[in-house]
Amino acid sequence: MTLEDIFNRLWSDYTTQNPSAQKVFDLFTNEGETVLNDHIAFRTFDHDKVNIDVLARVFLERDYEEKGHYEFEEKHLFAKHFEHKTDKSAPRVFISQLKLNDFSNFLQKTVSNIVDNIQEKDLKSDNLIFSGKIWGTPDHKTYLKLREESEYAAWVYVYGFRANHFTLSINSLKKYDSIEKVNQFLKDNGFLMNSSGGEIKGTKEELLQQSSIMANHINVEFTDGVYSIPGCYYEFAQRYPDKNGELYGGFIAKSADKIFESTNYYKK
Ligand code: NI
Repeated sequence: MTLEDIFNRLWSDYTTQNPSAQKVFDLFTNEGETVLNDHIAFRTFDHDKVNIDVLARVFLERDYEEKGHYEFEEKHLFAKHFEHKTDKSAPRVFISQLKLNDFSNFLQKTVSNIVDNIQEKDLKSDNLIFSGKIWGTPDHKTYLKLREESEYAAWVYVYGFRANHFTLSINSLKKYDSIEKVNQFLKDNGFLMNSSGGEIKGTKEELLQQSSIMANHINVEFTDGVYSIPGCYYEFAQRYPDKNGELYGGFIAKSADKIFESTNYYKK
């Protein structure tokens, strides 16, 4: 499986499950824009069997290398980002993990139970990165209870391993060459922006500005019925050159902190 195969599969799963992501992509391509990805993000738990390093393996074996480390105190998350060693147009890979020890026995037990349901061969497989809820169908009561403690934990419980979001690189756009223009275009087309901490996260001085649309509700099958809950979202990033004229390649923890809330439950 080549990197291209992996990204194509991730994209196809992402847009099949979240038709609104395909709509965003089509909006920009219909305007004559070439859509490139700044990064693709994944979520997991800091459990030995499925932590960041386990999910990153498929990329590390394909010429990616570890770059930045990030702490998200308030959300109890830790993250790493990875970049391709030579291909600068390859998307960054951003993987975060929830710090299980910071949570209740219920949450820890739920996670260890679902992780124990994953077969050893699946943990070693290159397919792990798009295996979804490989531990089986979730139940809605557990989902609701997890959400009381962590929206992030509830999201992973329901969706598992898959792209949580793709991020359009505003630097690759011609007509929509600023984050303000991108946001306006999205709002004009009826998308709901994540406005937690302001629509634009980060400043030019920090060399990275990001925005995102709220995840659309999608129908998810639980053991105890079908419920409409937030799925995945689309993010937008504009990078600025540093003193040496090089585009900044990292992430800003305090900006990303609010972006995580794009999958929070909201009333429609
Ligand atoms: Ni992101």
